[in-house]
Amino acid sequence: MRKSGTKEKILALLNERKGTSYSGQELADTLNISRTSVWKAINALRDEGVKIGGSTNSGYTLAPESDVLNSYVVEDLLNEDSRSFYRINCVKTIDSTNLKCKSEAESGAYEGVTYIAEEQTKGRGRRGRSFFSPDSTGLYLSILLRPELEISDAVLITTAAAVAAATASEKVNDLIKEGDVKIKWVNDLYLNDKKISGILTEAGLSMETGGFDYAVMGIGFNLAPPKGGWPDDIKDRAGSLFDEGLCPAGTRNRLAAEFLNAFLPIYKALPDVTYLSEYRKRQLTLDKDIDVIDGAGNKKRAHATGIDDRCGLIVIFEGEDKPVTLTSGEISTRVI
Ligand code: BTN
Repeated sequence: MRKSGTKEKILALLNERKGTSYSGQELADTLNISRTSVWKAINALRDEGVKIGGSTNSGYTLAPESDVLNSYVVEDLLNEDSRSFYRINCVKTIDSTNLKCKSEAESGAYEGVTYIAEEQTKGRGRRGRSFFSPDSTGLYLSILLRPELEISDAVLITTAAAVAAATASEKVNDLIKEGDVKIKWVNDLYLNDKKISGILTEAGLSMETGGFDYAVMGIGFNLAPPKGGWPDDIKDRAGSLFDEGLCPAGTRNRLAAEFLNAFLPIYKALPDVTYLSEYRKRQLTLDKDIDVIDGAGNKKRAHATGIDDRCGLIVIFEGEDKPVTLTSGEISTRVI
């Protein structure tokens, strides 16, 4: 059983009747707690910025435009398999959901522990970069995994997540079509040529077996343009799943659940790459000239020709005629 909080439960109840009121007495009776406890929890939620109208006498109402993450709401939207696999923890602000899952892993937590946040203060990106994780317009989610995979198959966790994220994003946004969300090898999600999501998988190795002790798969989604605009260093390539003002209330919880539902079966099937055709179909990089950039920042021009059956990128370097397969490692690509 996951830890349950009065605040979370109250929020889940108010969310069921969003826009209409719930009396303090009804809340107290439903949760078998005192009206004072209800009042304290409502105040604490308001202090966190949750828009709840009314009073203990007139009844409490969650503002219809509210899009607060809530563990109960996410769990409600999970299918049966997901509900028994994931242990959902929603938080408003955190340093990094990846860091949190890593520390849980090191304390011996089981596979499936999931942290979902509305904001990160130290969001981690690939290649030691930070990941811009503002409040209100994003969703930041990490899952602790204990994969029974070869280390060389680590990339499959990331590519499985990319496919799950692409399909989940299309499910929650009725304004886009199936196939509109593209994947830039290895794992960035693009919509209309702008990056809307990034994935960082971090691994802990077992000293005894040399295999995985754990992996933490973390994904960040930009749902809407940030209120203060994009930072200068990413403003040319960053985008969001919804345009300004078009992200419906409740999307954060829905997207989290759709992603988790989509990810679980393909993760469980690994090392079989059951999602390969979908991964190939969505590639942004194929049949294009690209720059291949190694960990030291060296650039080499190549032509991307295909995806192999372990999700490696097949390229032909300029001036050469033999194809080479790139596995993710420290390599990144830029379409030119
Ligand atoms: C990238 O594009 O460089 C990868 C970004 C990964 C960001 C996600 S947000 C949730 C999780 N927590 C983190 O600190 N990072 C990942």
